[in-house]
Amino acid sequence: MKGTDMIITQPHSQIPTHTTAPDAVEITPDIEAGKICYFPHLTFTLDPIFSNPASVASSLGGLSAKRKSISYNPQTQHVKGIASDAPHYAAAEKILQDYALFAKTLITTLCPFYNTHLRVGRTSFRPLEVQGRPSSYRKDDTRLHVDAFPSMPMGEDRILRVFSNVHPQGQERIWRIGEPFKEVVSQFFPRLRSPWWKERQLLKMLHITKKERTLYDHYMLQLHDQMKYDLTYQKCAQQQTIAFPAGSTWVVYSDVVSHAAMSGAYLLEQTFYLPFTKMRTPDLAPQRILEQHFSLQDRQNMAIST
Ligand code: SIN
Ligand code: FE
Repeated sequence: MKGTDMIITQPHSQIPTHTTAPDAVEITPDIEAGKICYFPHLTFTLDPIFSNPASVASSLGGLSAKRKSISYNPQTQHVKGIASDAPHYAAAEKILQDYALFAKTLITTLCPFYNTHLRVGRTSFRPLEVQGRPSSYRKDDTRLHVDAFPSMPMGEDRILRVFSNVHPQGQERIWRIGEPFKEVVSQFFPRLRSPWWKERQLLKMLHITKKERTLYDHYMLQLHDQMKYDLTYQKCAQQQTIAFPAGSTWVVYSDVVSHAAMSGAYLLEQTFYLPFTKMRTPDLAPQRILEQHFSLQDRQNMAIST
């Protein structure tokens, strides 16, 4: 693997049995510091039904450039992206449920500090090739970005993600990793606009956002968009290419690690949310880092609207 300074490699081929097992090294400080915890030998085994591209194509026919994944909400147990009468629906549902459990066991064992504060988000299965898929620049994950979503404000929450490359024929997933978050912010903050008067409240009233964006959400989304928009930055920013082999797993706070998925298919991903106040070191949260750049006017507006 090339470019290893942002990567902490762990030897596990199994998830430790409990938090005090000798191989249960706590990964919390590394991921909070913006590193990727990489487990080259920690394999999630895909149901062989999905090893054959033809059977995948027939059962997952609803997937397209527009909908790129099948997702599962562990809270509601609802599967999206595959018709309930599609061939292999039950197998797809089981993969997502099993992966949710795998990722949860991994994080609760290796991040015991987070304890009950961690919330389980969606599980997603992305069998399609990433490369060459048309999309608008804002949705183009082959451009370096930090994760922020237009309709889903994070507020105080961090976005922690577990990924596993489950490609049946052994294709790598290729990512680019950019510079540390603080450096990204110092470069981009001067070009991020302040919110318009009542903008955040209006977006909520019009149901464009699920809840009201905080100032943090506003600037994170701007940052996400401006990074993707700037093609010179995409080309010239300090970056490294990382190949995650099939059979590997990695854990990352995707709201601070600048990343781009360049190629690969068959990925499983589990999202978790954690209030930044429950981190080991809350000062490393993007909420805290961005806040240092808010103007006096931003702070006054914040005081008025809260
Ligand atoms: C992303 O989070 O930007 C995409 C990651 C991937 O699909 O590998
Ligand atoms: Fe992303």
